[in-house]
Amino acid sequence: MTDQPIISVTTEIVGDVALVCIDNPPVNALSVHVRTGIQSAVATINAEKSAKVIAIYAAGRTFIAGADITEFGKPPMPPALPDLLNEVEASEIPVVCVVHGTALGGGLEVALAAHARVGVKGLKIGLPEVLIGLLPGAGGTQRVPRLAGIPVALDMALSGRQMPGAEALELGLIDRLEDGAPRDIALQAGQDVIAGTLETRRTCDLQTTPDDAALDAARAMVEKKHRNLVSPQRCIEAIAASTGPIADGLKIERQAFIDCLATPQRAGLIHAFFGERAVANVPEKKAQPRDINAIGVIGGGTMGSGIATSALLAGIPVTLIEVKQEALDKGVATITGNLDGAVKRGKLSAEKRDATLAMLSASTELQSLAEVDLVIEAVFEKMEVKKEIFGNLDTICKPGAILASNTSYLDINEIATATSRPEDVIGLHFFSPAHVMRLLEIVVADKTAPEVTATGFALAKRLKKIGVRAGVCDGFIGNRILGHYSKTAAYLVLDGATPQQVDQALEDFGFAMGPHKVGDLAGLDIGWMTRQRKAADMPSNERYAGNVADRICENGWFGRKTGQGYYVYEGRDMRPNPEVEKIIAAEREKAGITPRDFTDQDIVDRYMTAMIVEATRVVEDGIALRPVDVDVVFLSGYGFPRFRGGPLHYADTIGAAELVKRIEDYASEDAHYWQVPDLLREMAASGRSFADINKEA
Ligand code: 3HC
Repeated sequence: MTDQPIISVTTEIVGDVALVCIDNPPVNALSVHVRTGIQSAVATINAEKSAKVIAIYAAGRTFIAGADITEFGKPPMPPALPDLLNEVEASEIPVVCVVHGTALGGGLEVALAAHARVGVKGLKIGLPEVLIGLLPGAGGTQRVPRLAGIPVALDMALSGRQMPGAEALELGLIDRLEDGAPRDIALQAGQDVIAGTLETRRTCDLQTTPDDAALDAARAMVEKKHRNLVSPQRCIEAIAASTGPIADGLKIERQAFIDCLATPQRAGLIHAFFGERAVANVPEKKAQPRDINAIGVIGGGTMGSGIATSALLAGIPVTLIEVKQEALDKGVATITGNLDGAVKRGKLSAEKRDATLAMLSASTELQSLAEVDLVIEAVFEKMEVKKEIFGNLDTICKPGAILASNTSYLDINEIATATSRPEDVIGLHFFSPAHVMRLLEIVVADKTAPEVTATGFALAKRLKKIGVRAGVCDGFIGNRILGHYSKTAAYLVLDGATPQQVDQALEDFGFAMGPHKVGDLAGLDIGWMTRQRKAADMPSNERYAGNVADRICENGWFGRKTGQGYYVYEGRDMRPNPEVEKIIAAEREKAGITPRDFTDQDIVDRYMTAMIVEATRVVEDGIALRPVDVDVVFLSGYGFPRFRGGPLHYADTIGAAELVKRIEDYASEDAHYWQVPDLLREMAASGRSFADINKEA
């Protein structure tokens, strides 16, 4: 039996117009059969002269969303998109493109190679390749500058932003913006080309206006903000070449694209792209989510107020609960401040802010939650307090209401025992600031009903967050792993590195901030409390990691909020805290440690290996469904460098065998801390990778 060819491009001749329709759900990506289909349609119409104009449009919810990302990293299949688009541009019969939905990357490049472009209302265009470690590779760096100038090309290609149709029209990237069905508009556009009322021209015939100042400014911006990334630099190089003959520019663009395609950064970023979608694939995905029309949030602190802000911004009415009126007023003020901040940043209009705030009610009575569909408890982390609240909610809330805790580490199974409805109890772990951070850990307890879990995922989507399913354990996925690897930073400092060196090495690796800066920002008292909580359970052979941090906290220095921590903060300036240097020296002396040198690579290797060790255990224990779930938690909640794809994607670039060797080396210093997880040992022996485990799941 032979495979049936996939037909995703069809031609319909209406009068003198050849309507070429692309239909490759879900997003009309330019898979090989689409490229072949367009090539054959354009060639056939030209050869047969069966029409006077070719009008390309797409079926479904969007025009082409770009190259087919799943083909990257596989052997190339002709026709290559740049060649195809040169053929489209060279077509004797004029080609008009009608674009709707999101015309992105290669999709926009198809339109740019046509001889005229008509947008459909609601259109967004963009060159998002940089977000997946690439650059526009089918003429985008050459044709955008010709149509709209170098600054526009730099803005689009370096930000990857989606530009509204009206702006595209103003900039000359499309020729018209119309309302209606793409097929109807395509037919009309074709007829207008024939009638001479829609002008056609080849983009390659236009000249790019040189703009060295814009190019220099872009280089400086990339050096400052994206110095770790390859593709933005290559992108500027290609756009700079657009002032010469197009054939030369296309050659430079193509080489840059091929080079970027081969980078681990491209692989990491595409892993992140698909990973963010893969995490929604959970055992409960077929369950029917419950309706959520009103939410109760208990606790008006930073977390509770952030959660309430997030729900309000998604258009869900919120009732905020605090025990005391003063705390309640403070919570309402924080929410108001969060919304004001959104107005200031231009994310929300002043009217919308008022309408959003009108959906907030506040109360000191739990009884006010009788009619809400979901309660999210965000009070301080004490099991007895949480159990009391859940016991009360059990008597107050209507049947079917979901009772969620935002705890960062407490046992959801135990919390659920305080109710007569453990099937309605779930963990919804937000990250601070909750109205900004994209991660939501959805913690599924033993008795949580599938539809309650499904509701957690539906809520995450509504809040524009990424929901990741986690099992119950101390710290769930993210904080459990953090709790382990953060000790490495402390050990490194005790053994000879400075906090600044550790921070710098990890920032050079790609983290937005090193761990000591993060500690100062979050508040060093948080870690101090955690160490106190866990002190009793600390095994006798464990090396204590809190010596330096405890001494800092004992001075009342909790980081930024107190003006000093590992660093001293004065206005916008920060510098290493000389008092901390003294504390470190004293602690080393107390422990009889002779400081030794660590290279930046040593620091990164130890830190990352510790992270990978605990991440592997989290997968091994079934707390994360798959390695990719751990990756997405770190990418969306812990500032992990996206271009490295997440800790376990990064682990694959090192290999299990090498990791085992490293851990065994480190174990000679501390056999308790550095232990090889069984899964990693098995992977080293069998050659299995975390990517393989993702595929098996
Ligand atoms: N290739 C392959 N699959 C793609 C894809 C692409 N370019 N874009 C989206 N998909 C898949 C998604 O993985 C998802 O699959 P799933 O249902 O199996 O999980 C499905 O299409 C729907 O996507 P979303 O869930 O993201 O749907 P949304 O409606 O939320 O968003 C979108 C639609 C805005 C188009 C978004 O998918 C997106 O941003 N896509 C990527 C666009 C992109 O990066 N284009 C550039 C590609 S590189 C390129 O073109 C190179 C060229 O210059 C040569």
